[in-house]
Amino acid sequence: DNGARVPVLIIGTGYGGSVTALRLAQAGVDVHMVEMGMAWDTPGSDGKIFAHTTKPDGRSFWLRTKTKQPLSNFLGFPIDQDIPKYTGILDAEEFSGITVYQGRGVGGGSLVNGGMAVTPKRENFSSVLPSVDVDEMYNTYYPRANAGLGVTNVDQRWWESANCYQYARVGRKHAERSGFPFVFVPNVYDWEYMKAEEAGTVPKSAVAGEILYGNNYGKKSLQKTYIAQAKATGKVTISTLHKVTSVSPAASGGGYTVAIDQINTSGDTVATKTVTADRVFFAAGSVGTTKLLVRLKATGALPNLSSEVGKGWGENGNVMCGRANHMWDATGKVQSSIPTAGIDNWAAGGAFAEVAPLPTGIETYASFYLSITKNPHRAEFTYNAATGKVDLNWQTAWKQDSINMAKSIFDKINKKEGTIYRTDLFGTYKIWGDHLTYHPLGGVVLNKATDNYGRLNGYQGLYVMDGSLIPGNATVNPFVTITALAERNIDKIITADLGR
Ligand code: FDA
Repeated sequence: DNGARVPVLIIGTGYGGSVTALRLAQAGVDVHMVEMGMAWDTPGSDGKIFAHTTKPDGRSFWLRTKTKQPLSNFLGFPIDQDIPKYTGILDAEEFSGITVYQGRGVGGGSLVNGGMAVTPKRENFSSVLPSVDVDEMYNTYYPRANAGLGVTNVDQRWWESANCYQYARVGRKHAERSGFPFVFVPNVYDWEYMKAEEAGTVPKSAVAGEILYGNNYGKKSLQKTYIAQAKATGKVTISTLHKVTSVSPAASGGGYTVAIDQINTSGDTVATKTVTADRVFFAAGSVGTTKLLVRLKATGALPNLSSEVGKGWGENGNVMCGRANHMWDATGKVQSSIPTAGIDNWAAGGAFAEVAPLPTGIETYASFYLSITKNPHRAEFTYNAATGKVDLNWQTAWKQDSINMAKSIFDKINKKEGTIYRTDLFGTYKIWGDHLTYHPLGGVVLNKATDNYGRLNGYQGLYVMDGSLIPGNATVNPFVTITALAERNIDKIITADLGR
């Protein structure tokens, strides 16, 4: 409520925010979460909470009048379409050199992501978070995160014959014929549910291709794991369609004044509120948290923030491509939207490629991949006083490094198979999806802009708990690492700062 005072306010309900809420509540602290997106707990007029992948509507995108699908074309034809402007689930946020996809609503990115739950290889961890104790992470916090998220492995015997993983088996065959390690990857999807989907005994979700605009049944998003547990403590409340616009030291009595816009489903501000909080946890995601802090530093609300704020942002080296298979390597009309495996060429070529679905509902003879690469470039967010916005100086050309690394896998496979790249998925005669990322990381880097536990330098009681702490690359899909790091940091904060 306007004018309220709370012990803890958390900005955002993604991975970092959900872990923070649960652990603080379990320690006996009352927590208030503020989320700019919707609750996603009420069915629409079609009886479903989330729109279908092939029939986007207002629910699909965050305040856009036209879809901006990651794959913009099919057979060379543009596939984006007009939709009503609404506070939908997927934000395609455009900066000058890159479009950053993010989830909006209670659960953050867990609402829209593929659920791939990957713990980085231990030998790569020091490149991910150099100041963090490796043993502590692999003995305590990664296991805790995997348990909290409900991470499990697909039943490989079932996978070997499931129709919906024909595309992944073709991916394996091509990887192995070229000598690349093909590795199974854990996920948060309920595999028993997926088996029932494939068998036709329950409503379909993954097997119907649901993913980018939300998953109506089997995926264990944060709403079903951390957030459900946090709510069950009775100590956590969530305000949806509320966007934090400012945080500054309170004029009297200590703590921070937090300014919040309440918005309607068209995105218009309908009320402006202020709340005072003893402690504020920034968990608005890499882009959300960094944009806020860069602006608050530049405009004088939090002038003492470190000059490191805004720096060290990367896109986890994301690049997409498709390959055109021969007729004998059909990838299947039915493709589960939940990826199960990847091609690991990280050590030799700097790329880890997810064997991704292309759930179009028709046979495309295409293999599709999202590669995570060791792209060395890092960008910076800066405040633009003329526009009042925060800019990001990422250059599209920097993706050439990622393309070269991905080619270390796919050029070889194409040569071996006698196949070619698809050129019809990202435009006409364009091979590489090099204009986007699903994995924004960094901007408020751990042990640089914050101390080694996410405490913001310069302000007691302000913390960062999300992907902005990770300096640009996680070597694999990032949410398990974001979760594990949040588990580690909140553990320390609860004992050292709250004395519990
Ligand atoms: P996250 O972005 O999850 O949460 C931030 C929350 O804060 C959002 O709900 C946002 O609305 C809210 N917020 C922002 N600004 C605010 C403000 N000012 N006021 C109030 N609220 C605000 N990763 C992975 O490991 N495996 C995978 O398979 C995939 N697949 C994938 C697919 C797609 C399409 C996307 C877009 C992303 C993925 N990811 C992924 C990435 C993963 O989802 C991502 O890394 C995490 O969600 C990031 O977690 P955070 O806690 O940092 O923020």
